[in-house]
Amino acid sequence: MSARGLGTVAFVALFAVGLQVGILVKHSLQVKAPEAPEPVTCPNFDHGAALDRFRRLLTFPTVSSKEAPDHATDHEALRGMLEHLEQSYPAVWQTMTVEEVGAGGYSRLLTWRGSDPSLDPVLFISHYDVVPVTPGTEGEWKHGPFSGDLADGYVWGRGTIDIKFSVAALLEAASVLLAGGYTQPTRTLMFAFGHDEEVGGGLGANVTARLLASRGVRLAAVLDEGGAVLADGMRPFVTDMPVALVGMAEKGYSVVRVVLRSPGGHASMPPIDGSDIGTQVWRLYSALLLQQTPTQLAAPVTDMLRALSPYAPPLMRPLLANADARQSWLVNRLLGFAFRRLLSRDTAAMVTDTIATTRLIAGVADNVLPQEGVVSFNVRVLPGHTPGQVVEHMQRALRLARLSGAEVKLVEATAWAGSDVTSASGRPFQLLRQAIQEVWPRPAGQPDTAIPVIPYMVGGGTDSKHYAPLSDGGILRFIPFGLNKTAGDLGLIHGTNERIPADDFRKAVCVYARVLELMGSDWSEAGGKEKPAAAVA
Ligand SMILES: *[C@@H]1O[C@H](CO)[C@@H](O)[C@H](O)[C@H]1NC(C)=O
Ligand SMILES: *[C@@H]1O[C@H](CO)[C@@H](O)[C@H](O)[C@H]1NC(C)=O
Repeated sequence: MSARGLGTVAFVALFAVGLQVGILVKHSLQVKAPEAPEPVTCPNFDHGAALDRFRRLLTFPTVSSKEAPDHATDHEALRGMLEHLEQSYPAVWQTMTVEEVGAGGYSRLLTWRGSDPSLDPVLFISHYDVVPVTPGTEGEWKHGPFSGDLADGYVWGRGTIDIKFSVAALLEAASVLLAGGYTQPTRTLMFAFGHDEEVGGGLGANVTARLLASRGVRLAAVLDEGGAVLADGMRPFVTDMPVALVGMAEKGYSVVRVVLRSPGGHASMPPIDGSDIGTQVWRLYSALLLQQTPTQLAAPVTDMLRALSPYAPPLMRPLLANADARQSWLVNRLLGFAFRRLLSRDTAAMVTDTIATTRLIAGVADNVLPQEGVVSFNVRVLPGHTPGQVVEHMQRALRLARLSGAEVKLVEATAWAGSDVTSASGRPFQLLRQAIQEVWPRPAGQPDTAIPVIPYMVGGGTDSKHYAPLSDGGILRFIPFGLNKTAGDLGLIHGTNERIPADDFRKAVCVYARVLELMGSDWSEAGGKEKPAAAVA
């Protein structure tokens, strides 16, 4: 090609790149942080007494277990705790209809009837069962796991983060509203508290959801656990202020087992055709490395990036604002690659179905070739993906590895698909954002900025999946408390020394009081839930 030809090509290419960058920048300028609402003052209440009621709730060891009758390991503790709730929040029990549901009557459904019965209710979910303390670690707790101690500015114990906190804060918030003369919402509000969420909710939330379904109840929105305020921001996108993450979807869950078979025999003469279990395992992992699950950056992660963009460093903004493939295919792929390969294990899990080995079982003696090997994979699928797709993926890997004798089994009892995605432009999300931004303290040194409220994807599973078929306005997963990632707070969930800043309880009561007021008003339901992009693609 002549020099002039080359010059023309270079000019056109530069022009195209310039045009593209121009479009990206223009789009990013259109994405603005929502205007900060005026701060709302919290109604007066006795913080110390409220905290004492929460701390007492923590002293009941309401550990759930799949093996225990009714999924409750300590029935006396559970009954004592239920009595404590009824006695501590008398106004709630007098005002609302309280139903005992689920196995043993251990779960609770509270209904605060609204003045306009034509409006569908909003449901608040939480649970008062907790996970056990790992045997042998009791001595490592600075304060007993069922002490409810108040020390060093923290409340200590199982259930502070997961999640008696929200049971107590919701009941306290309703009590505060009632005491202040707010006696009835316009829209009906319901509270469903489960007693076996930590073991799947099969005898609690599942039963409650089916009771509501049998009554023909449709829900305008559901608020559950799953997100929090990240005190130290969201690196590398927001570094100078806390962000409130609201779970708009959760990943699906399943366990897939691959059973490998081999003739076995004496270990002194291993086969030379690769048919021994060890080599089969190696072939399986080689195939899984060659053929990985696809990378897919879609909602709610694209909604998250879009919402983060106004708060991000200027050079990042055009990328984040155009994360959705419908805006820019190229940016979507670049960000997907960065999330999967460059940033961290958290971001990688947001853009792919993860397949993690959790058990490798083979062999009976040191000098015997195993005749069977079982590999168990814990699988988390993206919204819109099903466990069946992962089984197919595994079957393709086995064909690639030429392991025709192997068998793939899905553990059906604990398999569920990725959830639907709640819309970030729907009213329920906007109302929750408004409440958080009105009440949560402004970032230090930035009095004109409300904290960013950001859509998010939850990696673990919650009770909300039982209610998902009933909810027309989607599911929001958020608890108004702060977790500090740098300080290692995420490791406290289900861990040793679970604790929460005492002042967060006060803030949570204030946020919930506002959320109850807003959700209990007459708001329109435009928006709601979207089909995940994955299901459409
Ligand atoms: C809920 O209960 C029904 C009936 O017992 C059962 O078929 C279903 O699998 C349960 N669902 C979940 C998610 O536990
Ligand atoms: C988070 O924890 C780190 C390490 O303990 C600390 O330096 C930082 O100030 C904390 N951030 C907030 C907002 O509390």
